[in-house]
Amino acid sequence: MSSVPKLRLGVNIDHVATVRQARGTDYPDPVAAALLAAGAGADGITLHLREDRRHIQDHDLKRLLPLCPVPINLEMAVTDEMLAIACAARPAHVCLVPEKRQERTTEGGLDIAGAPRLIAQACARLHDAGIAVSLFIDPEAAQLDAAQGLAPNLEINTGAYAEANDAKTRDALIEKIAGFARSATAAGFQVHAGHGLNCDNVAPVAAIADIVELNIGHALIARALFIGLPGAIAELRAEMLRARGH
Ligand code: PXP
Repeated sequence: MSSVPKLRLGVNIDHVATVRQARGTDYPDPVAAALLAAGAGADGITLHLREDRRHIQDHDLKRLLPLCPVPINLEMAVTDEMLAIACAARPAHVCLVPEKRQERTTEGGLDIAGAPRLIAQACARLHDAGIAVSLFIDPEAAQLDAAQGLAPNLEINTGAYAEANDAKTRDALIEKIAGFARSATAAGFQVHAGHGLNCDNVAPVAAIADIVELNIGHALIARALFIGLPGAIAELRAEMLRARGH
């Protein structure tokens, strides 16, 4: 038995909804994808209800809540509208992310240090509703300092690592992520990571023992087009386990 903690896999179903929204049909159904993913071993289901509703819709969250056999992680921006939705829906987890209308996907982490009161108030509201909050941040010491006492979980933005196109930059970013994860764990946070991860680049992140959860969407759903969702999850899970030494 390895003493390295288990690494959970949160499957993000947003891009099943992206395909549906492209045609305005009622298929493919992200809720059906979530149930399939849970049956195929996903430890949690993540969905991002964006302000512009470009993929996940309010009714997806409503339908998923009573059916999902694994914890739901709702990604959302720090707005009054989203806070009201989350506090009414009460998913197990909320991950607060920055959101820009023009971006294709989440760019960069939350600037907690730049808006400490706003984020502290949001965390308090979610906490009072019984929701475990995660803050999606870049692996920067200033953000870790600003996050102290606000939430039980931090999710490290791995986007810069995933986008780096040379080995030296990637290695340096893995060092940075590992150092940050160590400090965050020592400070009492549960550390998650995600963004841009896939079967080819997940191993160095999965090998960081202080990280206990990965949230992966786009590459997993893209791979599922060719080999099906259970196969894509199995492939990714095998890579995570291999990297973890399990
Ligand atoms: N974590 C967070 C906070 C995100 O915003 C996203 C994208 O929705 C992901 C993880 C998953 O990223 P990807 O779709 O690139 O795997």
